[in-house]
Amino acid sequence: MSFKYCLYSDIHGQVALLDAVEERVAAENPDKVIVIGDLVGLGPNPEVIVQRMMDRPEIDIVVGNVDLWVTRKVWETTKPKSPHQEWMFRMMEQTRERLNDEQLEWLDKRPFSMTYTPDMGHDFHVFHGTPYDIGDSDAFPFRLTDDEIAEKLIDYNYDVMAHGHIHGPSVRNIKNGDKVNQLVCAAAVGMSWDGDPRPSYAVVEYMGDGKWDCRVERVEADNEAQAKLNEESWIEHGERIAGMIRSGTFWNPDHMPH
Ligand SMILES: [Fe+2]
Repeated sequence: MSFKYCLYSDIHGQVALLDAVEERVAAENPDKVIVIGDLVGLGPNPEVIVQRMMDRPEIDIVVGNVDLWVTRKVWETTKPKSPHQEWMFRMMEQTRERLNDEQLEWLDKRPFSMTYTPDMGHDFHVFHGTPYDIGDSDAFPFRLTDDEIAEKLIDYNYDVMAHGHIHGPSVRNIKNGDKVNQLVCAAAVGMSWDGDPRPSYAVVEYMGDGKWDCRVERVEADNEAQAKLNEESWIEHGERIAGMIRSGTFWNPDHMPH
């Protein structure tokens, strides 16, 4: 018995890039599609993304840290640490204005994590940042080694775990006692920070007998058109977002988010 999951995340209001990923995901013919957070923020059309997901209840959605910045009004509770963060928080306030009450309530109620059990004793756990923190206080950045991540995951012994948040896809082997588990990063659709501007998604397939096949895929998309759309949108400093979509790197290397 096999079961195929397709996952993507960090859409951040970028509709054309989601279209490109969805087309490839549909061609995979998955049994289940899972979106692991950050549907909104950092992009011009949050309302389109949220409504599309609300209209497709067959897709499972996990909430991301930036989603909660918007639904829980981070700008009212957190003092910005820098002018960069002030800009981000203002963008979140303006993102919120584009969502109606029903969309905000729906987004706020998405779960923090989900567990799938395609076979007894074989679990697949999905979350946005880490299994114990949504991403605001901890994360699994590129610079950490597999062993350093294994230490953080010592209490989380699932065959496969999948997350988003760090905007660079990978599959890692993570030791836990005698077992080797897999950690999959599916991110990102909206903009990458690993130097490759192409949007990504992940495939996690349970093959039976405790065997899993995990891979990440990159997707060709019209990044230039989407970058221009951001520059010309309501977003203050849309050129910063556009630069990330064009280059696949964070706009301000001195202030990497993780
Ligand atoms: Fe995130």
